[in-house]
Amino acid sequence: MLGINAVFHDPAAALVVDGRCVAAAEEERFTRRKHGHANLPFAAWELPAQAARWCLDSAGLTAGDLDAVAYSFDPSLTREPEDLGIHDPWDHLRRTYARHAPTMLAEELAGLDPAAVRFVAHHHAHAGSAALAAPVPDADVLVLDGRGECGSHLAGRYDGGRLTVHASQSLPHSLGLLYEDVTAHLGFVRSSDEYKVMALASYGAPRFLPELRRAVAADDAGGFRVDRVDWNALVKRRPAGERWTADHADLAASVQARLEEVLLDLARWLRARTGGSRLTLAGGVALNCVANTRLFEDSGYDDVWVQPAAGDAGTALGAALHLAAGAGDQPVPMAGADLGRGWTDAEIEAALVAARLPYERPSDLAATVAETLAADGVVGWFQGRSEYGPRALGRRSLLAHAGHAHNVERLNDVKGREEFRPVAPMVRQERAAEILERGPLPSPYMLFVHDVRRSWRDRIPAVVHTDGTARAQTVDPRHEPLLDRMLAAFERRTGLPVVVNTSFNTAGRPMVDTPRDALEVFGSAPISLLAIGPFVVRRERLASCP
Ligand SMILES: [Fe+2]
Repeated sequence: MLGINAVFHDPAAALVVDGRCVAAAEEERFTRRKHGHANLPFAAWELPAQAARWCLDSAGLTAGDLDAVAYSFDPSLTREPEDLGIHDPWDHLRRTYARHAPTMLAEELAGLDPAAVRFVAHHHAHAGSAALAAPVPDADVLVLDGRGECGSHLAGRYDGGRLTVHASQSLPHSLGLLYEDVTAHLGFVRSSDEYKVMALASYGAPRFLPELRRAVAADDAGGFRVDRVDWNALVKRRPAGERWTADHADLAASVQARLEEVLLDLARWLRARTGGSRLTLAGGVALNCVANTRLFEDSGYDDVWVQPAAGDAGTALGAALHLAAGAGDQPVPMAGADLGRGWTDAEIEAALVAARLPYERPSDLAATVAETLAADGVVGWFQGRSEYGPRALGRRSLLAHAGHAHNVERLNDVKGREEFRPVAPMVRQERAAEILERGPLPSPYMLFVHDVRRSWRDRIPAVVHTDGTARAQTVDPRHEPLLDRMLAAFERRTGLPVVVNTSFNTAGRPMVDTPRDALEVFGSAPISLLAIGPFVVRRERLASCP
């Protein structure tokens, strides 16, 4: 079963065999265009053809072997823009391109029968990506994004692979679009930079909460309303590039606080309806790790699990899982987000030789990297299969010493990011509870914030945000033995079982995916050491490069 996401943004493909995801990748990692294509109706025809072909190749399959292709948008569910209360005269293009997707996919994937393409409702695809990939598949599910065919939300429950929808919310009411609106008003890129608003919120006070409470509220049927907000009446629009003020931070804090309140109302409603103990989340709003921690703490659920590819890329996986479960396949819990491309040692060495770079093969890679980090070097870490979803989780990461506060600015400089953005810690799982509180542990996907215990804040200042929190990734030695060995080696040298982890890319570009991508970033950014497969390249030796 092949899943395809194409309509809005983050085009992606995922391959599910016997209920297990064996490959999943975003098209941006192949085309090097961040988010694949713009979230515009005109762009909806662009299919994740390279990702789809790679998924099939990696499993030794052809399109003719597929039982079905699951496309995460159902054009029969769309309505006219005026019925949805949205103002886009070109919205119908999404429906048109989706209708043509079977033949267009058959042109891209040799041997595919267009009749094998099935449409899966966008929010069912998100829901499947959460509950059917979670550690326990029978779970409640909340989906919240900007929009699907005609809605922005689904509240339901999966039992035995079957989804029961308990509530949904029609457009124009959308918590995702509300957050996108404030993102644009604050001078960031809509449908891309929402996480910057979340980071900015930590610097403000929610003094516009009364206005937001009047405009945005849950109803008693599991849905909500979002009235039009006159943002300019609250705070003047920030032109892109202009410095943000306390007012902007207060607005971000107010929207963030109201989002959390309404999400709690929605989750409590669903729990009261189903009596469930486990909540799963997907949709772009589920990438809001501050809200996720509120849900974990206060919704009444015993456990909250978030799909690491919670944005639209994840609907490729969810559409395939949803169809597979409907066909009777038992869903297999997702073991990790490392579902993208990987490279053999020989392929990596060939790229190093082609680039004429001086490289070594150290006897202990983990120790070599730890030594560089302990000496306050920045390490490019390229290991194993790349991540599916927006977070770098130790496959395509930049690493640095967590004990030096200047590494926040240093990494933000390397990546051309705003100075207020935090960088995140990667923590040995066995030590995590000693350092972090609040939020679920272990936390392998960086989808929750935690409070850093006071006794640790001064020891790891590079990864503590202004409000004392950190968006941590805990490293399980069973799934990530090399990362764990590196962290252990760093701890032996510094006493800190924590390093800074941020994604291996530069501003406006997708994360690196191939050895060549990694070498390009290494060549253009002040990275001290590149650890690529079993090899290392040292910047200090580049001067002697012929
Ligand atoms: Fe979505």
